[in-house]
Amino acid sequence: MLLSAILLLTAPCEGEVQDPRELVHLQAPMQEHMLANMRDHLATLNEIIGDVANDKFEDAAKVTEQRLGMSSLSLHGAAHLAPFLHQPMQDIGTSMHHAASRLAIGLQNASVTPTADAFRDINKALHEVTTACEACHAHYRLR
Ligand code: HEC
Repeated sequence: MLLSAILLLTAPCEGEVQDPRELVHLQAPMQEHMLANMRDHLATLNEIIGDVANDKFEDAAKVTEQRLGMSSLSLHGAAHLAPFLHQPMQDIGTSMHHAASRLAIGLQNASVTPTADAFRDINKALHEVTTACEACHAHYRLR
């Protein structure tokens, strides 16, 4: 009885659940910039999956490399943002861009030879991309 009363008193308020993620401090414009990049990442992922569903592998390869792959770094102002992010966080970001470039190659292969192996490679690379998204989200927050 007493114990449950104490637990109730010390329990976090609604919406104040314990958050084990590391807080990354960025100035407001930088934070906005990074979140805008993030929304573009999700929109891109959605576009890629839609293209794959419609057998548009070449379109998917192009959008993957340009908006998520190594070629997207200048588009996202990566050089500008990177100095504000811890090295381990940067490394996860780099691994995501590498995985996306591998995905772009897989998509190009599938556009030439649409075999079961090619589709498996696409799914593998796609999973490597989302694994990097998930790893970073599990460890870091901006707010
Ligand atoms: C290097 C780290 C990192 C990687 C990689 C990453 N994100 Fe994020 N993302 C974050 C952080 C940090 C936030 C802010 C979370 C918070 O503050 O609660 C975020 C927020 C977001 C948001 C919310 C945007 C908003 O306006 O609130 C979306 C959507 C998102 N990420 C999608 C993705 C997708 C999709 C991928 C992979 C293709 C991805 N992210 C990869 C770190 C990352």
